[in-house]
Amino acid sequence: MTTSRRKFIAGNWKMNTTLSEAIGLATEISRSVSRDAEIALFPPFPWLMPVAQAVTDTEVKVGAQNVAKAESGAFTGEVSARMLADVCQYVIVGHSERRQLFNETDADVNCKAQLAAEAELSVILCIGEPLAVRQVGDHESYVLSQLEASLHGLPPSILAQITIAYEPVWAIGTGVAATSEDAQEMASSIRVWLSSRSRDLDQQCRILYGGSVTPANATEILRQQDVDGALVGSASLQSESFLAICAAAEC
Ligand code: PGA
Repeated sequence: MTTSRRKFIAGNWKMNTTLSEAIGLATEISRSVSRDAEIALFPPFPWLMPVAQAVTDTEVKVGAQNVAKAESGAFTGEVSARMLADVCQYVIVGHSERRQLFNETDADVNCKAQLAAEAELSVILCIGEPLAVRQVGDHESYVLSQLEASLHGLPPSILAQITIAYEPVWAIGTGVAATSEDAQEMASSIRVWLSSRSRDLDQQCRILYGGSVTPANATEILRQQDVDGALVGSASLQSESFLAICAAAEC
């Protein structure tokens, strides 16, 4: 089945790159990428503006890796959704590294998603199960309950703007990607959950797969019916590998 959803490849640079590496990477990607897929880069906070400048007038968009769960005020070190909306278009919320290393709960993620959407940022919501949950076969209910809690109370008009990234925790940064069948199976469950929320939502929202995506496995994963793109970590730090994944999205 063909869909009207445009493929989407997002590069999460995490806490990597110097300023000159960031500008170089963004420039190389924006010069070479074709227009078929939507491409967004997620540099560290201080590089958001220089990277946004480096890709001005190109098809490449820029986003932040995190956002505060408050609107403004005495929150030393935090960056609000409204601040981000002045410099970039996207934001990632609920990445498993935020959940695991910084103790973010579904309620925190829910709050961040809401504030980001209100500030008119496009949200990528990350969900995914740890290895122990997968091993006992509870991954589907775990992921759907994360989805439910992270999106709780958001109206369909906001939900329709959200991109969901299924990222099994055991596949992130490990070199062990989910099989394309596993990625498809979960993407399909997420789409069914979306359709139960609101009419047409399942056709509007994009669902990405993330976790050890490389040029070697991208084509097979991106070919799956319910997988609309990829959230790429390590392989987004080299222009050749990231561009190869972008090219795979166009096949
Ligand atoms: P990875 O990271 O591609 O290095 O596994 C993915 C992610 O953290 O989004």
